Amino acid sequence: MPVEYPSPSTPSLPRVRRRALLGAACALVGGPALAGAPPVLLRFSHVVAPDTPKGQMALRFQALVHQRGGGRIRVELYPDSQLWGDDEMEALRLGAVEMLAPSLSKFGMAGVPEFEVFDLPYLFADLAQVRRVTQGAVGRGLLERLARQQMRGLGFLDNGFKQMSARRALRTPADYRGLRVRVQASRVLGEQMRALGAQPVVLPFGETQRALASGVVDAAENPPSNFLTQGLAALQPHLTLTQHGYLGYAVVTHPRFWESLSRVDRVLVDDALAEALAHGNRLAEALDRQALATLRQTPGLRLHALGAAEREALRRHLRPVVDGFGRSVGAGLLRDVQRAIGSG
Ligand code: LMR
Repeated sequence: MPVEYPSPSTPSLPRVRRRALLGAACALVGGPALAGAPPVLLRFSHVVAPDTPKGQMALRFQALVHQRGGGRIRVELYPDSQLWGDDEMEALRLGAVEMLAPSLSKFGMAGVPEFEVFDLPYLFADLAQVRRVTQGAVGRGLLERLARQQMRGLGFLDNGFKQMSARRALRTPADYRGLRVRVQASRVLGEQMRALGAQPVVLPFGETQRALASGVVDAAENPPSNFLTQGLAALQPHLTLTQHGYLGYAVVTHPRFWESLSRVDRVLVDDALAEALAHGNRLAEALDRQALATLRQTPGLRLHALGAAEREALRRHLRPVVDGFGRSVGAGLLRDVQRAIGSG
């Protein structure tokens, strides 16, 4: 018999009932029987530092699962590309890891180009707009599309908005000309840099610091928490607050792993993750502000705020990237996203 499990789009049971189910199951089988249930190992790999929204979310998830699973479900965390780097989705397919939270930019190359809509420059003005998309029907539809690539999408997490770093201030489109800029493997991000006259260089996150130090690349785009925790301030003396693009994540697992869990364990993991994601999303803005405050105090680093006219010039220059996405990936999706953004 096929195993039934809750879908991310239409959770089969309201959360209160799921808790009741969990409690009833524990009562029915009793402690010793649950203790006799097979142990579960859940390896959660990610590429950033623990002191970031993703790192903190993963820590909260681990704590909740350990506390509620009585030690039988073991969550091993591997931050900072310790286990897998940008090859993490391949590792998930091969069963070498059970859970990931790749940035949304990385799903395009994994066969789900619709996710690159989140990379479009100046599409979102703030995180409230992003959430109208990720926490609504459009977000649910996108998570469902991951099934095409043998992934089960479990939820979205914010980091924040990206700023541009380099050895000079980047105030106008002309300032980008000729720069080699590290980008994630996303066609939209590549197009974005080309539109500014820069050369995009795709590199794994874990190699970015070395590439900046050795001069393989001249510039990078990161949200403040990643820029700070990767120690990039020591290498890039100018951080221009362009706020030009969003960086967020989707938590995914492999359907094979998900279906291997008992119904009770699935509810436990799903609930713990929902709480951990809510925690991470609450933290995202605070960590962003804290990182910026620390960066403002960092000797040798200069922060440059853009005026409205400068930002508008950049936005106008990047507009063809948005139109190109509409033509190549989906005008319908773009319209749905824009509608969701405007619906608040
Ligand atoms: C990147 O490669 O820049 C991001 O995916 C890193 C992250 O926050 O996961």
